[in-house]
Amino acid sequence: MAVLRITKYGEPILRQKLKPVKYKDIAPRLPQLLADMEETCLAVRGVGLAANQIGLDLRLAIILLPDPKDENAKPTRYVIINPVILAKRGEKVEEEGCLSVPGLWADVARATDITVRYTDENGEEQVKRARGLLAKAFQHEVDHLDGKLFVDLVDPKLKPEVKKAIKQLRPKWD
Ligand code: CO
Repeated sequence: MAVLRITKYGEPILRQKLKPVKYKDIAPRLPQLLADMEETCLAVRGVGLAANQIGLDLRLAIILLPDPKDENAKPTRYVIINPVILAKRGEKVEEEGCLSVPGLWADVARATDITVRYTDENGEEQVKRARGLLAKAFQHEVDHLDGKLFVDLVDPKLKPEVKKAIKQLRPKWD
C-alpha cells in the first residue's frame, strides 16, 4: 500500500469530466488501487477521495464514513464506480472542505437526502438512499467526477473571499 500525493486546486485533472469505468477492465488492479486510495484518504483524515485527486481519469471514488459514536472505529468504506444521483431531497447549508483545497472551509448548500446508483467494488449495481454526512459525501464525490469542486458552490458574494483564501493557502500545499 502507499500514501499517494493528492492533486490540488488549480491542477487541470480536477476540472476534467472523468471517463466512465468498464468494471471488467479495472477489476484486476482494483484491490491495489482501492487500498492505496483508502490509505491516502486516512492519512489526511478525509471522508472521501475521487480518482482525479490521485491523478487518474476514472469515474471512481471512495467514501470513508466515520462512525459518529466512536471516532477510533474503522470507517465504513463505500466504493462508488460510475455513480449517478437519481434523486435529491431537502437542502441544508453546512461547512465543507476538500482534500484538494486543504485549509479552506466554506458553507455550501447540499441536498440532505439522496438516492444514488453506482457499481460497487464487486461489480454489483447498487441503489442506495443516503442522508446526513453520507448524502453530503456522495454529492461531493460525484461533483469531483464531473470536474466540480465545492468552492464552485459557495455563495457568489463569498467568492472573492474564497479566492483570496486560496491564494494565501497555496504556498503551503505540496
Ligand atoms: Co473533495
